[in-house]
Amino acid sequence: MLGEVSSISNLLEEEIATMAARMKLKLKTVFVLYFMVSLMGLIYALMQLGQQCDCAEHDLPKDRAISRLQEELYRLQGQIRQLEKAKQPEKKQPPKSSLSTIFVITPTYARLVQKAELTRLSQTFLHVPQLHWILVEDSPRKTSLVSNFLMKSGLTYTHLNIPTAKERKLQEGDPSWLKPRGVEQRNEGLRWLREDRKTEPGDNGQQGVVYFADDDNTYSLQLFEEMRSTQRVSVWPVGLVGGMKFESPVVEGGKVVRFHTGWRPSRPFPMDMAGFAVSLRLVLANPDACFDGEAPMGFLESSLLKGLVTVDELEPKADNCTKVLVWHTRTEKPKMKREEALQVQGLGSDPAVE
Ligand code: UGA
Ligand code: MN
Repeated sequence: MLGEVSSISNLLEEEIATMAARMKLKLKTVFVLYFMVSLMGLIYALMQLGQQCDCAEHDLPKDRAISRLQEELYRLQGQIRQLEKAKQPEKKQPPKSSLSTIFVITPTYARLVQKAELTRLSQTFLHVPQLHWILVEDSPRKTSLVSNFLMKSGLTYTHLNIPTAKERKLQEGDPSWLKPRGVEQRNEGLRWLREDRKTEPGDNGQQGVVYFADDDNTYSLQLFEEMRSTQRVSVWPVGLVGGMKFESPVVEGGKVVRFHTGWRPSRPFPMDMAGFAVSLRLVLANPDACFDGEAPMGFLESSLLKGLVTVDELEPKADNCTKVLVWHTRTEKPKMKREEALQVQGLGSDPAVE
């Protein structure tokens, strides 16, 4: 019996010994495999670290995507502002009856300084309540520069375009006074306004003021509050114009009696475009009144006004025309000598940047 037990235990011991040997082998295999995999992982990680990354190449499409998304964001923000304005005008602004809309008609044309001029102008207009900007491009098509600019401007606007007829357009090298500028564009603005007001019948649709603001002048905010009460045609001085410190209507007893100007005071209305505003009612009541592109030099303003008002009826503003609130500033044409030299070498500034 005892012998049987000991032989069984011997057999068990042998069995355990072979199992242990097999497990040792398996464990060893597991360890070896584990070691190999870790080593390969480490080698792969080290290879990745060592590899050169061309960051500029990687970043460029990302930058483009970011700026595209930013553009889209600005565009949508502009749209939201416009929609909010249309949705709840009464909430933000005083009742329409107490504040008439100022419709500003601005001709503009493509040139190097255009975006700078429009930026300055639009940022002035952003400070003026109840202003509707009618921007008219001197071009056969609406340009993307102006379209995108307006969308992001935060202003209430209408974007129009009409090209100046070739024979009426100033050519390179012509003196600036040779042909009147912005004529078709201002007339197009007037045409749109008359058409648009048809859909806004009643007193509200008629109330408003029309002002012709060139894109390069300098405008004080006070000017817009002066012109807001225009009944027929209001007038004021204009600084730095006509070779003078300022030109101005001369007021006596609250009436315009003559004009302070250095050139042809006998003109019907010897005033610059920046020196008057017309009531919308008057514009609508005289559907044919417009600027005459064939008018002799200095008679452009008169060509519109003589169909609308007499000198006696003019309403002097800006403290009886004693304050200058608008300046006929002109922007120097930038010199592009270095740009042109670089362009020859193929190193000109990126044409995609406005
Ligand atoms: C002066 C007056 O202030 C203008 O109101 C008037 O239209 C002009 O003379 C004229 O005689 O026709 P000035 O500074 O000499 O202005 O003219 P610009 O500022 O060069 O042009 C007046 C407006 O017309 C600007 O808003 C300008 O962007 C626009 N314009 C100019 C065009 O739309 N197309 C052009 O080819 C040139
Ligand atoms: Mn000008």
